[in-house]
Amino acid sequence: MIELVNIKKGFGDKVILPEVSALMETGKVNLIIGASGSGKTVMMKCMVGLMEVDSGKVLYEGKDFTGMEEKNRKEIRREIGMLFQGSALFDSMTVEQNVMFPLNMFGSGSLRDKKKRVMECLERVQLKDAAKKFPAEISGGMKKRVGIARAIVLNPKYLFCDEPNSGLDPQTSLLIDKLIKDITKEFNITTVINTHDMNTVMESGDHIVYMYQGRKQWEGSNKDIIFSKDEKLNDFIFASDFLREAKEIRQMEMFQQKDWRDKLKKD
Ligand SMILES: Nc1ncnc2c1ncn2[C@@H]1O[C@H](COP(=O)(O)OP(=O)(O)OP(=O)(O)O)[C@@H](O)[C@H]1O
Ligand SMILES: [Mg+2]
Repeated sequence: MIELVNIKKGFGDKVILPEVSALMETGKVNLIIGASGSGKTVMMKCMVGLMEVDSGKVLYEGKDFTGMEEKNRKEIRREIGMLFQGSALFDSMTVEQNVMFPLNMFGSGSLRDKKKRVMECLERVQLKDAAKKFPAEISGGMKKRVGIARAIVLNPKYLFCDEPNSGLDPQTSLLIDKLIKDITKEFNITTVINTHDMNTVMESGDHIVYMYQGRKQWEGSNKDIIFSKDEKLNDFIFASDFLREAKEIRQMEMFQQKDWRDKLKKD
């Protein structure tokens, strides 16, 4: 579990995150959603320590990551896997070498063991046959999958993915989402995804944090979204007439289910 407690972040006199508190739950796909420029990447970078917060704390299993000495931080970093916005593969390395990179940085063991682990991860993302290829020789969706393989090679407890679906077609996006969701459940990882992909929100959003101008505007699950009365969230998620109609139909369907009717009456 990762906890953000009143984190603030700005650049010069421009405040980006005025004050954010949120919980990223274990074994769940936690989504951070919001318009471009709302502070999602900054928030993620603060969580993993790529940016220092101005004030507030980020706690990993209750331990204050932000206030830690560098050597203790390293231990937590060792448990973090990250898929960057735009994949960020090394162009001069093969797929296999890219996935091997974190093992060479942090891992121990023989070259044979490392290669075996790399192949396991490439198999998990169905890219075993592409091991000897260079990033320039594979498609965008394959690059994302290499990024995922590299992010999980050290068996992370925490997985961060910044816009894993940007630039991908809807079907490939769903495959990537499913892969991330399956890995999260299989290894009980605390996964955090930044996205503005509405398919991801509706399919994978166990726990969603909606950011609006650097503030947490709304928090809930994909099921709660259907009945949310938050105007800003509704404008963001159900941006077109088509989606607004789809929402109403879904609301009616869910209203037929007794447990939802009871819940809504209580609310
Ligand atoms: N290193 C930096 N220096 C100054 N300003 C920055 C820096 N990084 C981000 N910002 C500013 O912080 C704000 C939030 O940026 P951020 O990248 O977090 O947005 P985002 O929600 O991830 O957007 P997108 O969906 O486009 O990826 C923007 O106004 C951006 O210009
Ligand atoms: Mg971003």
